[in-house]
Amino acid sequence: MSVSKPFDGTLWLAKDGTTVCILDQTRLPHETVVRRLTTVAQAAEAIVTMQVRGAPLIGVTAAFGVALAMRKDSSDRGMAAAHELLIATRPTAVNLRWALDAMREHLAPLDPNVRTSAAYAEASRMLSDDIATNRAIGQHGLRLIQSALKKRRGTGPVRILTHCNAGRLGTLGWGTATAPMYLAHEAGIPIHVWVSETRPRNQGAALTAWELGQAGIPLTVVVDNAAGHLLQRGLVDLVLVGADRVTANGDAANKIGTYLKALAAKAHRVPFYVAFPGTTIDWTLRDGVREIPIEERSAREVTHVVGASSTGRLAEVRVTPEGVAARNDAFDVTPAHLITGLITERGVCRATAAGLKHLFPETTIGMKSPRPSAGRRSKSKPKSIKPARH
Ligand code: MRU
Repeated sequence: MSVSKPFDGTLWLAKDGTTVCILDQTRLPHETVVRRLTTVAQAAEAIVTMQVRGAPLIGVTAAFGVALAMRKDSSDRGMAAAHELLIATRPTAVNLRWALDAMREHLAPLDPNVRTSAAYAEASRMLSDDIATNRAIGQHGLRLIQSALKKRRGTGPVRILTHCNAGRLGTLGWGTATAPMYLAHEAGIPIHVWVSETRPRNQGAALTAWELGQAGIPLTVVVDNAAGHLLQRGLVDLVLVGADRVTANGDAANKIGTYLKALAAKAHRVPFYVAFPGTTIDWTLRDGVREIPIEERSAREVTHVVGASSTGRLAEVRVTPEGVAARNDAFDVTPAHLITGLITERGVCRATAAGLKHLFPETTIGMKSPRPSAGRRSKSKPKSIKPARH
């Protein structure tokens, strides 16, 4: 399936065919800075510092990191060293492990002389698969927006609340949670997006607001703590977020603050959907709260904020008393019972082991994630089973 993407922006290969270019997301929305990665160490650094971020993009960046490593040392030892360096970059998004395992499985049987070209080819395939996958997620999620529109009975746009950036900046295509929004907008369906700022790093305020704004999608940024209020006032028709890791039973880890939104949505009977590709499912885990590793990042992200001054210069300012204790858990886990439905490239299902198994029948609980099959690799037709009632 050939699919075009809305903008060339998050990661691409330079004209030399080997340098990996990324859009530095730590500088957005204030500056558009492109970084050129030529070594695996630079790829690892880009992931750690969140110049690239978002579960699918982290995975593909790591895959290209392996390709960069193969240029220097394509021996078994070189492969193992690259794997070890990259796997340690960020712990929660399981797409990282999935991509690195897939690269290792693909390259290990090959002669070291051909591993570099094979690595670039495989990483490029992951990149185009992600674009097709996002599109499929968008198509399935679009139906939910269409049915929300019907419920609005012409009283205004569908009001969607999202958190963090599960957008095209976090992927290679349309994003996950944002894909249905882009397709709805393209189809002329009126939507309005409440963008939750997402402290401490403000991925909502900085990144989601930037990319939705670029596409002309009406949006309003709100502070994280406004979500309960908006839901209570009946100002949200649908909550749509992404995920970094989903367990076999449908628990979903996503950016810190997602869980609180799910609790509030449940209390106010507003549907809460999580959108993600099959590569985000960790079939080896069943209990997300107990088993998903939660990244703890620097306390400085809590005590300080980065923004542009009135002259446009980027500056970091402290918002707490100097030396105060701070803790920075970067993700939380929303238990499956709070989730109305899961949107994947294969369709929409209940957040249950049976729901996921129905969409991914080739998997068994406990196994490593197989290669996804939304696009040209698809063997099964997309299908949907009814999400939970709210
Ligand atoms: O810490 P980040 O910015 O990498 O966290 C990103 C998220 O939590 C996203 O919602 C998730 O990765 C989905 S990206 C399409």
